Amino acid sequence: MTEEKIKQHTRQVLKSFSKKKGNLIPILQRVQGRLGYLPREAMLEVAEFLGLPPIHVYGVVTFYNQFRLNPPGKHSVRVCLGTACHMKGGYITLDAWKRRLSIGAGETTTDREFDLDTVACVGCCVMAPVTVLDEKPMGKVDPTKVDGLLLAFEREREGKKKQ
Ligand code: FES
Repeated sequence: MTEEKIKQHTRQVLKSFSKKKGNLIPILQRVQGRLGYLPREAMLEVAEFLGLPPIHVYGVVTFYNQFRLNPPGKHSVRVCLGTACHMKGGYITLDAWKRRLSIGAGETTTDREFDLDTVACVGCCVMAPVTVLDEKPMGKVDPTKVDGLLLAFEREREGKKKQ
């Protein structure tokens, strides 16, 4: 999406808000809902609209886990790091995803196939460690399962190409 398009979408969102500083988070949520993430140009538009320093807006975006600085991938990978998953090696699973996808948490692969992030407890602790793939919680995802899950995505992709 071009810078101009990003600005247009952001300005469209801003039309339904007053210039109250307390609107910052709802505005950011709405802009992200529209763009899928919060690019630099959108944050600058929001900062100008509310009369806030851009660094303040950036600080809020990076503070809250709900906001993304990168465009989303086609598939989302969310590694649960709630207490139960942490105890069962959630961080080790996260490392495996990072290595396999060659990205860090909060990033998107260069081919835009996957984005990776962490989540707090998703409510299925008995299946710990949990990875949520495209909104679907997968249980007992230890590092040895990561390759298999990625293979399933690759097969699906190849299957679609043949159709
Ligand atoms: S801690 Fe991961 S699902 Fe509850």
